[in-house]
Amino acid sequence: MSPPETMQAAVCTAYGPPETLVLVRLPVPRPRDGQVRVRIHAATVSAADRRIRSLDMPAGLRLAGRLAFGWRRPRQPVLGGDFSGVIDAVGAGVTGFQPGDEVAGMTGVRMGCHAGFCCLHPEGRVLAKPANLSHETAVAALFGGTAAVDFLRRAGLQEGERILIVGASGAVGSAAVQWASRLGAHVTAVCSGRNAAWVAPLGAARVIDYTRQDWPGRGAVFDVVLDATGTLDWLRVRPWLQPKGRFLSLAGGLKDMLRAPWVAATSRQRIVAGPAGERLSDMQLLMRAAADGSFAPHIDAVYPLERIRDAHRHVDSGRKRGSVIVTP
Ligand SMILES: NC(=O)c1ccc[n+]([C@@H]2O[C@H](COP(=O)([O-])OP(=O)(O)OC[C@H]3O[C@@H](n4cnc5c(N)ncnc54)[C@H](OP(=O)(O)O)[C@@H]3O)[C@@H](O)[C@H]2O)c1
Repeated sequence: MSPPETMQAAVCTAYGPPETLVLVRLPVPRPRDGQVRVRIHAATVSAADRRIRSLDMPAGLRLAGRLAFGWRRPRQPVLGGDFSGVIDAVGAGVTGFQPGDEVAGMTGVRMGCHAGFCCLHPEGRVLAKPANLSHETAVAALFGGTAAVDFLRRAGLQEGERILIVGASGAVGSAAVQWASRLGAHVTAVCSGRNAAWVAPLGAARVIDYTRQDWPGRGAVFDVVLDATGTLDWLRVRPWLQPKGRFLSLAGGLKDMLRAPWVAATSRQRIVAGPAGERLSDMQLLMRAAADGSFAPHIDAVYPLERIRDAHRHVDSGRKRGSVIVTP
């Protein structure tokens, strides 16, 4: 079956609310030499898509956001940094992938996944989708999973260490709880009471409801604190850390990024901040774990691409559990 000549795509016309997203028809892209074309079946509407659409960046990073993503509006107007789908065409010189292959992957800053098709060079970015995973589950493994695995590795989290994970019900936090417990760490998860019942079995030895308790409690000390909410900073977290403790600031502002070298130079503690890496080896690890059932990416809702604004509103609420997915 030959592909259609045009595809539906969600285009971000300006920085602002979900109403800035418009559904348009664009030509189906042709794969260039070395590229594969993927017919997208599922893509995440992530916290990163929300940040780029709204230019709601962590404190002090708005200017950097404009420089990175476009001054007046996103220069890549089709958002969406991950996908699961089926290869339907390959450019000259592609080896290892062919039409009909079910794949998943991440496009990084090139984004472009909130559309019917995307083209990309597969090296380091595309992997086979396990047959027993739906496209929705496969893609839900990627955004939060890669960020969690990357930050936990940069922390050097060891078996038996104590970790506090704040924002444990988000895509990153719920993956971090599972990965940290898999590494043999003692996990304390912080989320609201409405999420405690599903977060605890992910691998948390203890769950703290941040809306009720004076947390983390007197004398509580951790080897690692991971903040996926952006509500904590170094000055608040430092008293909770062991002398060699690490603060993983996934959503923190410029201040803690600038503090990081000073903290490293003047103590045995560390701040880990900045963008998460998107390694193929991590994607493979996560996908294998999802396929064998030892990692369960949580999906909150699936919207057809036509409802992209509703999907963004859901993410804007700040209350999504795990991932929100769109299906082109
Ligand atoms: N550095 C990087 O490269 C990188 C990579 C990926 C993500 N991130 C950032 O990481 C953050 C997390 O993204 P995400 O997709 O996992 O989740 P998210 O959508 O930002 O988080 C939503 C979840 O957090 C909970 N929550 C809200 N306020 C909370 C609080 N004060 N304490 C504890 N939990 C709270 C919400 O549940 P309740 O409302 O019920 O509490 C909801 O389940 C985002 O800011 C994103 O930009 C950074």
